[in-house]
Amino acid sequence: MRLLTFLRYYREIRKDGPADLEWIQAQGLLAVKLSQIFALRPDMLSIEKCRQLQTMYRNASTIPPEDVEEILREKAPVGFYDSIAWFDEEPLAAASVGQVHRATLANGDEVVVKVVKADHKRKFQRDVKRMMRMMKFAISLSPKLRRVGNPLALLRHVEDYTTRELDLRNEIKGGAELEAIQESLVEDFPMPKLRFPKYYPEMSNEHVLVSEYVRGKTLEEGINDESLPWDYLIELFRIHGAYMFGVGTFHGDLHPGNCIIDEDGCFVFIDNGAICQAPRNVSLSLFNFFDEMSKGNHDAAFEALLGVASQRPSEDRVERFKSKMEEIYDGFGEKSVGEQSLTDLMMRTVRTAVEDAGADFGEEGFPIIRSLMYMDGLVIRTHPKVKLIAEMGPSLNEFRKGLDMESM
Ligand SMILES: Nc1ncnc2c1ncn2[C@@H]1O[C@H](COP(=O)(O)OP(=O)(O)O)[C@@H](O)[C@H]1O
Ligand SMILES: [Mg+2]
Repeated sequence: MRLLTFLRYYREIRKDGPADLEWIQAQGLLAVKLSQIFALRPDMLSIEKCRQLQTMYRNASTIPPEDVEEILREKAPVGFYDSIAWFDEEPLAAASVGQVHRATLANGDEVVVKVVKADHKRKFQRDVKRMMRMMKFAISLSPKLRRVGNPLALLRHVEDYTTRELDLRNEIKGGAELEAIQESLVEDFPMPKLRFPKYYPEMSNEHVLVSEYVRGKTLEEGINDESLPWDYLIELFRIHGAYMFGVGTFHGDLHPGNCIIDEDGCFVFIDNGAICQAPRNVSLSLFNFFDEMSKGNHDAAFEALLGVASQRPSEDRVERFKSKMEEIYDGFGEKSVGEQSLTDLMMRTVRTAVEDAGADFGEEGFPIIRSLMYMDGLVIRTHPKVKLIAEMGPSLNEFRKGLDMESM
């Protein structure tokens, strides 16, 4: 990303009207990733703008169709081709970092092969370096900039998790990590409806990943053909919520394209490369917030949320925060998700928490907020009449008991 591109990018993000998303996608992975972060910053952008940028989570495909065969010939592990009996040239999906193809192995196993575009990483890292330099320069001219959401730390965070995503071996590692947690909870918090795809590490490396072809449909497909019953979604929230709130280690990118319901009705988490950690004070504060909200205790809920701030704000700031929150959550218990979206509430909450209570979610706080927004989007698109927080009550109780949240 060059200076002029960067300036245009910044203008697209900050200007009042909608951003030109196609142009942003054409600038490459860094521009897309940064936009996904801005999408969660209602304290910096208008809520409408955030909502527009949030659509980039679903359409993040930036890669033109390309010669997959050449990548495979150059990058696949030795012996890869000997193990493949059939390879579907037509991609199953164009992915955000590469492409996914169906194939059959010589032993008859049905698999998918994911390939990362060869020069993706180089371009991304070059863009990050350039942007670092530009930001340092800008900060030296105007030190005030450093305080605007700490841009350098943010950029480092994006660099870190995107670099992890670009190495496909991390998907195998991430899947194993989540599975180990599932096993460790088998007594206290069983999740029989969750499973992970079988991976083929001997046929995979940084650029190529081979995993079981999961027969079924993604949540995205289930949303579109209106086949997701409510008790399925509740079960998904129960599982994902346990990871997010109870364990603090979770699938950091569980949008509806990254979860397949297989033929036995199990949830299969795919795209397991971005495992995230929620700082304890963030996950616990949010848990207590939802828990108190589900019981209708607004004041206790707002109080719990103050736990995300590194230190308790002055009493008049607390007062102002609470009265704004009271406005935001007025009539909350009676409204369905369709009438009042959780994402909307959450964006207004983040804004108030940052502006009035001096809360600092930190870059590490974003994945959990993003996850909650995905879940909310899922409900709005399938069961808008539901009163989500009230429905979550039983799961929250189970977290408390099974995941031992009281003692923390
Ligand atoms: N193991 C699999 N079985 C069946 N379909 C898959 C599998 N892996 C990926 N897909 C399909 O390909 C899409 C993109 O794959 P994904 O691993 O999520 O790539 P990306 O990292 O680009 O998001 C998924 O949304 C799903 O439709
Ligand atoms: Mg995906």
